[in-house]
Amino acid sequence: MRIRDVLLGALVSYLIIQNVCVANASRVLQKSQFFANFLQSNNNGISNNGTKWAVLVAGSNGWGNYRHQADVCHAYQILKKSGMKDENIIVFMYDDIANSPENPHPGIIINSPNGSDVYHGVPKDYTGENVTVNNLFAAILGNKSGITGGSGKVVESGPDDYIFIYYTDHGGAGVVGSMFQGLLPSNINVYATTASNATEDSWAEYCPNFDAPLEYDTCLGDLYSISWLEDCDMNDVGSETLQQQYESVRKRTLEGTAFNGSSHVMQYGDMSFSGNVLSVYLGDNPSPPTTTTKSSSNVVPQRDAALVHLHHKIRKSDVNSEEYLLAKKKLSEELAHREHVDYTINQIGKLLLGHHDHQNGFKNLRSSGQPLVDDWDCLKTLVKTYAKYCGSLSTYGLKYTGEIANACNAGITVDQFAAASIQTCS
Ligand SMILES: *[C@@H]1O[C@H](CO)[C@@H](O)[C@H](O)[C@H]1NC(C)=O
Ligand SMILES: *[C@@H]1O[C@H](CO)[C@@H](O)[C@H](O)[C@H]1NC(C)=O
Ligand SMILES: *[C@@H]1O[C@H](CO)[C@@H](O)[C@H](O)[C@H]1NC(C)=O
Ligand SMILES: *[C@@H]1O[C@H](CO)[C@@H](O)[C@H](O)[C@H]1NC(C)=O
Ligand SMILES: *[C@@H]1O[C@H](CO)[C@@H](O)[C@H](O)[C@H]1NC(C)=O
Ligand SMILES: *[C@@H]1O[C@H](CO)[C@@H](O)[C@H](O)[C@H]1NC(C)=O
Repeated sequence: MRIRDVLLGALVSYLIIQNVCVANASRVLQKSQFFANFLQSNNNGISNNGTKWAVLVAGSNGWGNYRHQADVCHAYQILKKSGMKDENIIVFMYDDIANSPENPHPGIIINSPNGSDVYHGVPKDYTGENVTVNNLFAAILGNKSGITGGSGKVVESGPDDYIFIYYTDHGGAGVVGSMFQGLLPSNINVYATTASNATEDSWAEYCPNFDAPLEYDTCLGDLYSISWLEDCDMNDVGSETLQQQYESVRKRTLEGTAFNGSSHVMQYGDMSFSGNVLSVYLGDNPSPPTTTTKSSSNVVPQRDAALVHLHHKIRKSDVNSEEYLLAKKKLSEELAHREHVDYTINQIGKLLLGHHDHQNGFKNLRSSGQPLVDDWDCLKTLVKTYAKYCGSLSTYGLKYTGEIANACNAGITVDQFAAASIQTCS
């Protein structure tokens, strides 16, 4: 299997489930960041003739998802500092944060409580409506004629080149979150790491009421992303290896916090590259580390970051203000939606697999190392079937794509799934 098959397998389902970045904030998106290092080389060795390329992607939009675009901007600053040129860095981000009316510091994006601006200089290759799945594929595959809108920049790589891809967003089973487990071969010159394992959520960091400055009502970063980004800031990328970074990032991401929030950072693909130093992928002229002291901080589950944002807005705004009423309304709609999704998915599971099997079948995910789903078309079809009768899963509901994948794995047909959805939701 080739990496493009792997990417297509996972990201196409992503497109169909959510209209990725063109939907409005309340419909956008999923958990999960991953941080992939793609090496394309004929000899597994380090070629001095190669060009380094980077593709940085924030898949979400909306003020409540501030953190994903902040992570991507921070990654850009690291690549620049390590000597990469803009012509080799391709950025996908909706770009609705810096100049959002909700931004207390217009024109500025920060990625840590006392952090400096990470927005300056970030190339606007694909922003707004031009952030599409088709453009992302075309850019990664170097297909200039496949691009619609944007800067037209694509990865024009040769056999000696190195490609680094960083993608941050929400996710779920079959929706970016589990795209490597059981799917990424170890012999195609690709090494990847992910924020969490295929069955757990990842966490947001630097959130309101904990560590974010008072004027911010949204989380500034994500636990895993902050861990690798700050690790790059604190160390010499010219001497730290991928393996060393994996270990320290895994440790920080697993550390307990007041919320007990942690996830298991994972490695996939060709481990023979893990002894390479970071600068093989991140730039040839690493400058000395910026001395940042690592701040210990509290984290919030990815899926709850949107609620934290609304709670904070309610707390800090005047009870008679329009802002207050709007935040209250949004919060109660979101809570009602979550209750609806929890109830209906549970009910559909019971109808299809019976109470007993529901516990053991619908909920049980594949064991470690196996792909979460065999039939991607089935997963897409059942997600659409649910949406048809019960309404969109939306961002929160993506936590159940694992259950829906299990229905596919158990051989449930579309007709059976539709009947259970109709019975539950009409
Ligand atoms: C770099 O390219 C030159 C000319 O094509 C070739 O002779 C040399 O072996 C290459 N070096 C490496 C390290 O691949
Ligand atoms: C941010 O700066 C303030 C004031 O300078 C300081 O009190 C606080 O400890 C800093 N927070 C972090 C996380 O470094
Ligand atoms: C480039 O993208 C276009 C449009 O999606 C597609 O028709 C074409 O086959 C692609 N070319 C290659 C070489 O992948
Ligand atoms: C999308 O790309 C087109 C063509 O480059 C550009 O004119 C347009 O402004 C872009 N849209 C956004 C929202 O950036
Ligand atoms: C995946 O995460 C779950 C939940 O945190 C944990 O119970 C399980 O042991 C983890 N599996 C692996 C392989 O890390
Ligand atoms: C974290 O875990 C400890 C020990 O299991 C528990 O006592 C505590 O209530 C948990 N804290 C939160 C915020 O869930």
